[in-house]
Amino acid sequence: MSKAARKNTAASAPADKMQWWTEARFGMFIHWGLYALAARHEWVKQRERIPDEVYQKYFDHFDPDLYDPAAWARMAKAAGMKYVVLTTKHHEGFCLWDSRYTDYKAPNTPCGRDLLRPFVDAFRAEGLRVGFYYSLIDWHHPEFPVDRVHPMWTNDEFKRAHAGRDVRKYADYLYHQVEELMTDFGTVDVLFLDFSYPDPQGTGKGHEDWRSERLLKMIRRRQPGIIVNDRLDWPGFDFVTPEQVMVRRWPERDGRRVPWETCQTFSGSWGYHRDEATWKDERQLLALLIDTVGKGGNLLLNVGPTARGTFDARAAARLEAMGRWMHVNGRSIYGCTQPPDWVKPPEHCRATWNPATGRLYLHLFDWPLGTLYCDGLGGRIEYAQILSDASEVGVRTGPGGHWLSREQGITDETAILSLPVLKPADTVPVIEIFLKR
Ligand code: GLC
Repeated sequence: MSKAARKNTAASAPADKMQWWTEARFGMFIHWGLYALAARHEWVKQRERIPDEVYQKYFDHFDPDLYDPAAWARMAKAAGMKYVVLTTKHHEGFCLWDSRYTDYKAPNTPCGRDLLRPFVDAFRAEGLRVGFYYSLIDWHHPEFPVDRVHPMWTNDEFKRAHAGRDVRKYADYLYHQVEELMTDFGTVDVLFLDFSYPDPQGTGKGHEDWRSERLLKMIRRRQPGIIVNDRLDWPGFDFVTPEQVMVRRWPERDGRRVPWETCQTFSGSWGYHRDEATWKDERQLLALLIDTVGKGGNLLLNVGPTARGTFDARAAARLEAMGRWMHVNGRSIYGCTQPPDWVKPPEHCRATWNPATGRLYLHLFDWPLGTLYCDGLGGRIEYAQILSDASEVGVRTGPGGHWLSREQGITDETAILSLPVLKPADTVPVIEIFLKR
């Protein structure tokens, strides 16, 4: 079947299946594995061309003695996140759970136990939905062909010695592991498979290697309500995953808007990175969240726990700050989406809209002096308030009075909001507008 002939079905996923996810808008990604010990990016094995024998030291010393998934779950919840996606296995091949199909797993390290089950229990106990990330790529499996992203790609001797690797055997391993994940942990809400890189020279991997169609059928059979991402190189996914980018507009496939989620790091690495310094600040993170929701998407924000099993203090501080904002302003995020086209957000504002309540939210990235001119909203506003303290914001429509003139571009379409001089304490203040129904 040609690629063009295969129809993507993202837009036709049953609406009720996507509902909780669309309302949630904000989730936590967690990248945790042996790379946390190296503490210099989860691709360290590949970037530094580290052979298995050398990488083994991380397996031999993996002992997260402070691991407390209940504390993680509390932090995610306090930040306002509604779901979580954890790396059950990343590209390095190491498994956090007690898989029947490999010895390369947490129970065989000094940690000596399955880490996934307590994780699942803890997050469910806090009321969060639970998703699994599973790496299609595997740099440890003996049948995973040495391709251009493999750590040993530049080692000709290794490549010759391992030329007989059989990707069909690897595809079976992958199938069985995912089946285990889909069977042994109750309802799994999201599956994030990562990732495909097909190319004509045969140095990449795609749906034929993974046997994506067979895999996806099994996943749907085992977990009928699950939401699956788009990285299998195969149609039939539920959402698309722009990574580390602020999209310009709501992504489309075949001319239709599709469910989307952007995954993002606090700093430049997914795995714990001790020396990485490009941490986004609270305001940037809130802008990312608000911008995403205002374009109809979800934000999956990543934490890379340390090898002791704790959240980096820098991550914890940012989660706390976002949680403070979400506690009072979450109404502009949950259940919200892109506003109708007639809403023209004023300068320095980003808008979100709750179609169920008919409320519009203006996020003010700059606090103007006294007046906020809102074109398109004239005559449409029933009531307006500052969201964080429910204090009234005065509204009037159209020209009239001192400098509120046609010459100033004020028409009957213009609503004029009267702001207090003092900016509210919120990092990004929000005006909640009750639109006339
Ligand atoms: C990329 C990277 C990976 C990370 C993922 C998150 O595919 O390979 O390290 O887990 O993005 O989306």
